[in-house]
Amino acid sequence: MELLRTVGAMQAHAESARAEGQTLALVPTLGALHEGHLALVRRALDEADHVTVSVFVNPTQFGPGEDYDAYPRDLEDDRKTLSSLGVDAMFAPSVDEMYPYAANEALPGPLAWVTVEHLDEHLCGAYREGHFRGVTTVVTKLFHACKPDIGVFGKKDAQQYVILKRLVDSLLFDLEIVGVPTVRESDGLAMSSRNDYLDPEEREQATVLYEAVTAAEEAIQGGEQEGQAVVRAMQNALTAAPTAKVQYAEVVDAHTLQPVDQLAPGQEVLAAMAVFFGDTRLIDNAFVEVPRS
Ligand code: PAF
Repeated sequence: MELLRTVGAMQAHAESARAEGQTLALVPTLGALHEGHLALVRRALDEADHVTVSVFVNPTQFGPGEDYDAYPRDLEDDRKTLSSLGVDAMFAPSVDEMYPYAANEALPGPLAWVTVEHLDEHLCGAYREGHFRGVTTVVTKLFHACKPDIGVFGKKDAQQYVILKRLVDSLLFDLEIVGVPTVRESDGLAMSSRNDYLDPEEREQATVLYEAVTAAEEAIQGGEQEGQAVVRAMQNALTAAPTAKVQYAEVVDAHTLQPVDQLAPGQEVLAAMAVFFGDTRLIDNAFVEVPRS
């Protein structure tokens, strides 16, 4: 496996794979790889001849007071894991490499941002100002650096997945976004690098997230058509965890990401939540198709 640290080296590597007629997949990550990421990598290996995994803790998607400094980093461990899976290239640039203008006092800031309007008005976007602008900007740069035919992302980050699909569609990127279902621990907790922050009691209580997601799915599949009733089913499930502090529990249309009052037969909706356990903020969700009869 090649380890590439600069945009120029990554672009040259991708160009030579393309010149050999290979199809390229990119799996963008923040590193600290767990089974959830490995499911993305396996999917990429199935779908393309050549797989690049980027490992970059992107500062522009963390807000003030968020966990940018504390975010787990273990490049050597990630390198070993990716190499053993048969990944072709790991792209691990520095912050200055990805944001050279921010390092230049005469020209501060990224200078150019990529934004997708409206889809960040609800769910996480309502509470993490600038987060999705940071994601769409860095993912655009990663696409230009790694030149993939497909980008593979987890559906656990449901809002990110919908926004990135819209980005690629609206700005005519010549690539496809592939979404991979959430990978869960045996008790249902969605895999996340942030699960490592939980103490044993919080870890035990965090299983209510999956119970709430399941409650929403069951309500919708059982014929509930009122958005607020589905939200109440999620909130009820979350009350089983006394320490949980719900930031949001919402049901939105899966394409517009706007709240839904009345669910329509055949509509695809997203039931999603963010919940704090102590200082740790976890998210979970399900895409559900409303039954037709
Ligand atoms: O989902 C993530 O890990 C990040 O938001 C991503 C897509 C790697 C962009 O930094």
